[in-house]
Amino acid sequence: MKHLIDIMEMTVEEISQLIETANDIIANPEKYAQKCRGKKLATLFFEPSTRTRLSFEAAMYELGGNVLGFSEAQSSSAAKGESVSDTIRTVGAYADIIAMRHPKEGAPMVASKKSIVPIINAGDGGHNHPTQTLTDLLTISREKGGFDDLTIGLCGDLKFGRTVHSLIGAMSRYEKVKFVLISPDELKIPEYLKHEVLEKKHLKYVETADLEAAMPQLDILYMTRVQKERFFNEQDYMRLKDSYILTPDKLRNAKQDLRILHPLPRVNEISIAVDDDPRATYFEQVRNGKFIRMALILKLLEVK
Ligand code: NCD
Repeated sequence: MKHLIDIMEMTVEEISQLIETANDIIANPEKYAQKCRGKKLATLFFEPSTRTRLSFEAAMYELGGNVLGFSEAQSSSAAKGESVSDTIRTVGAYADIIAMRHPKEGAPMVASKKSIVPIINAGDGGHNHPTQTLTDLLTISREKGGFDDLTIGLCGDLKFGRTVHSLIGAMSRYEKVKFVLISPDELKIPEYLKHEVLEKKHLKYVETADLEAAMPQLDILYMTRVQKERFFNEQDYMRLKDSYILTPDKLRNAKQDLRILHPLPRVNEISIAVDDDPRATYFEQVRNGKFIRMALILKLLEVK
């Protein structure tokens, strides 16, 4: 049985197939409307979410399946001290597939060891977020026709931003991708990513604090929120939270075919004036998230 805990567990071919399925779902939704009839998805969210949880639920409904779950740890037996392992064994008795978000890095991996049904990591602490990455990849592929030769700027909280970590891993497997890592000094990507992914694979990357200087070369700009909930002290967060605020003015020297992505939620890092720019792609990205999750559910449930 297959789980999705880390995007690197999926081959490039498997990702291409998922993108192909998602594109077919977008073109022919009626073909898929009954594919998961009688199946149940459980969404176990020990941490807040709008898009990830609701897109999983909408995905399962659009496949003709049903959904159960909880959206905060406080309303589950975790509040009484139940372990993740016991929760998973219990939910496996009710559901055919589980999407789980947890504040602890590695919790979905631990859960997968005890689970009799497929587990999908819907975000584990500051670590990984593979289904956001699938969403990002579908968006980039639809907008750019592929991944090779792209220069991708990742901007904001590269230290705690789990979407950034998964996306760097996934993009590192395509040809001649260049990474521009834009962050304040304190929010640079973790060392393990630098050594295990970027340097090991001899990828082209630069680290900079200057978004405007980096702008002209970018094909993709991936903005992120400073991850308040992962800071040890409020003052550090307050000092760093507005490090980058993308405004129309800062896009003056950007390519005409730049695509601006953001996993959302946005706090302050993209001014709403940018929403009207044709290069702003983050709400399209939200829509894509449902379709790629439909494709993923079909794959993990082995529905033909
Ligand atoms: C992201 C997350 O939860 O990691 N959001 C999402 O799932 N779309 C990004 C974030 O919270 O900043």
